[in-house]
Amino acid sequence: MKILFIGDVVGENGQDMLAKALPKLKAQHKPDVTIVNGENSHKSGTGITENDARFLFGCGADVITGGNHSLRRCGVDFYEENEFVLCPANFNVVNDEKCGVCVVDMGANQLCVVSLIGTVFLDANRSPFFEMDKILKKYGNMPVFVDFHAEATSEKYALAHYLDSKVSAVVGTHTHVQTNDDHILPGGTAYISDAGCVCALDSVLGMDKKACVTKQKYLCPVKFEVTKGEGFVNGVVIDIDKKSRKAVSINKIHIKFN
Ligand SMILES: [Fe+2]
Ligand SMILES: [Fe+2]
Repeated sequence: MKILFIGDVVGENGQDMLAKALPKLKAQHKPDVTIVNGENSHKSGTGITENDARFLFGCGADVITGGNHSLRRCGVDFYEENEFVLCPANFNVVNDEKCGVCVVDMGANQLCVVSLIGTVFLDANRSPFFEMDKILKKYGNMPVFVDFHAEATSEKYALAHYLDSKVSAVVGTHTHVQTNDDHILPGGTAYISDAGCVCALDSVLGMDKKACVTKQKYLCPVKFEVTKGEGFVNGVVIDIDKKSRKAVSINKIHIKFN
C-alpha cells in the first residue's frame, strides 16, 4: 500500500503550488492514499476553513491532517462533521478521538490516519503517548499512519520509537523544514522527523521575511503575510507491506516549484 504525504501547505501560494504539483505527483507515484497537512492552508497562512478543505480535496487529497493552527478559523464541530479533515486527537478540547482519527476504506485494505500534536513548545495538550495507547486499542488491527505535529525532534523520535512495530508510519510536521533522517525503524515503522512544507522559498517558513525579522529582532507582534513565488513542495512516499503492516520504504519528495 502506497501513501503519499504532503507537509504543511502554507496559504494561497501553497494552495497554488499544490494544485499544480499534486496531480503530477499522484500520476508519478500512484498512491493508494494521499494525505495533506492543511493547518496553514487558509490564505492567511494559519488555520483552515471549509473552503480550504474543499480546495485540498479538489487537488487530490483523501485525508487532511492538522496541527497547532487547526482551531484558528473553525471549531471542533467542523472536525466532528468532516470525517476526513482531522485536528490533533490529543487537543485538550477534543473529547472524541474521531476528530483526530479516520479510516480510509479501500475495500480490501484499510488505513487508519491519526493527527497528533506534541507538547514541547506548543500549547498544553494531552500526552500523545497515552493518546496513541487509547487509539491503538481501537485501531491497532490495521495499518496506522501518524502525522505527529511537533516542535522538538527529541519528542518526535521518542514517540516514533514508542510506536515502532505498532504503527506503519510516524511522519513529523510543523517545523516546515524537511529533515534528512527518513528511515525505517527496527520494528518496521517508517519515520521522518519532518516532511517539510509547501511554501515560498524566499520567506521564513512561508511568511513574509521582513515581518519575521521585525518580530524576532524587536520581540513584538507583527502582521504576517504569506510570501508568493517559487518554493518547495515537500513530502514523503511510503510503501507498506499489506500483510505485515511494516514499511517497505520511505522516500522524500523535495521539488522546487513555481
Ligand atoms: Fe504547526
Ligand atoms: Fe505549519
